[in-house]
Amino acid sequence: MKGIVLAGGRGTRLYPLTLVTNKHLLPVYNKPMVYYPISVLMLAGIREIAIVTNPEDIDQFRRLFGNGKELGLDITYIPQNAPRGLADAVYQVREYVGREKFMVILGDNIFYGHNLPKILQEAVYHVENNGGAVNFAYWVRDPERFGVVEFDDEGEPVRLVEKPRYPRSNWAVVGLYIYDETAFERIEKIEPSARGEYEITSLNEMYLEENKLSFYRLGRGFVWFDAGTYDAFLEASNFVATIEDRAGLMIACLEEIAYLNGWIDEKTLIRRAKLFKGTEYSTYLKNIVSEYVESLK
Ligand code: DAU
Repeated sequence: MKGIVLAGGRGTRLYPLTLVTNKHLLPVYNKPMVYYPISVLMLAGIREIAIVTNPEDIDQFRRLFGNGKELGLDITYIPQNAPRGLADAVYQVREYVGREKFMVILGDNIFYGHNLPKILQEAVYHVENNGGAVNFAYWVRDPERFGVVEFDDEGEPVRLVEKPRYPRSNWAVVGLYIYDETAFERIEKIEPSARGEYEITSLNEMYLEENKLSFYRLGRGFVWFDAGTYDAFLEASNFVATIEDRAGLMIACLEEIAYLNGWIDEKTLIRRAKLFKGTEYSTYLKNIVSEYVESLK
């Protein structure tokens, strides 16, 4: 399965922060925002990743990740020439994905929860074996800001609405989706919405109409942020800082995930630690290596 990070758009809701910098490169506490969605793909076991972004921003992402090898990944950069909406952004990866199934994550979505890898791997397995699509729902106080899903008494999804003025449920559809290879032919049938965008909700609706959309609900043990506003940005940073300080464990340390997945070795960890010399991030990487050496004794 391939992974896609959508990191385009203008980020106008964050001006002037995003006037000259792509939103997904801004810091969420101690890492660029895009680290967080990439970590989710890695936790799902995905190594082949495409970052879709504005053509003028590609170079900066490339400077950050290169070809991904140092993180045990194979990273490709794909331009979206204009921010015409999320379904349009997904459409840009059709040749890259080919006939494979793929997971899409929005570049400004941050997830944290103890059994996240298990749920992701289960969902991946589901689409790999049955086709169709998977969406994830999360209970929120302000559903009108998101895509919203309504469930029937049996817990089956019955309706999806993008940013409803009067939401009929509190279940937001989060920015994480898994699709089979039929997604692209479906996107070709989408008409722009009232706000002039090719909506990802329209794509999900097509799967729902054919009974090919499954939902996983992320329960109370999960934290989900869509870091699209000043406040959400600050909340996300504060959250990461608090958790990392309490537990002494990092959220979205890509080298750590790659190492635990067996995708990079200690030598690479040490090289990365040297690159970030003098930072807590570097110390953290060195500790991973010394813990490993200790475990051999
Ligand atoms: O965060 C979850 C929500 O994300 C969902 O509940 C909604 O159903 C979905 O439409 C989306 O809503 P947003 O209004 O938050 O989407 P936004 O326009 O902020 O774009 C989300 C990310 O996708 C953002 O990181 C920028 C990127 N993007 C956006 C557009 C419009 C692209 O890469 N290309 C685009 O054309």
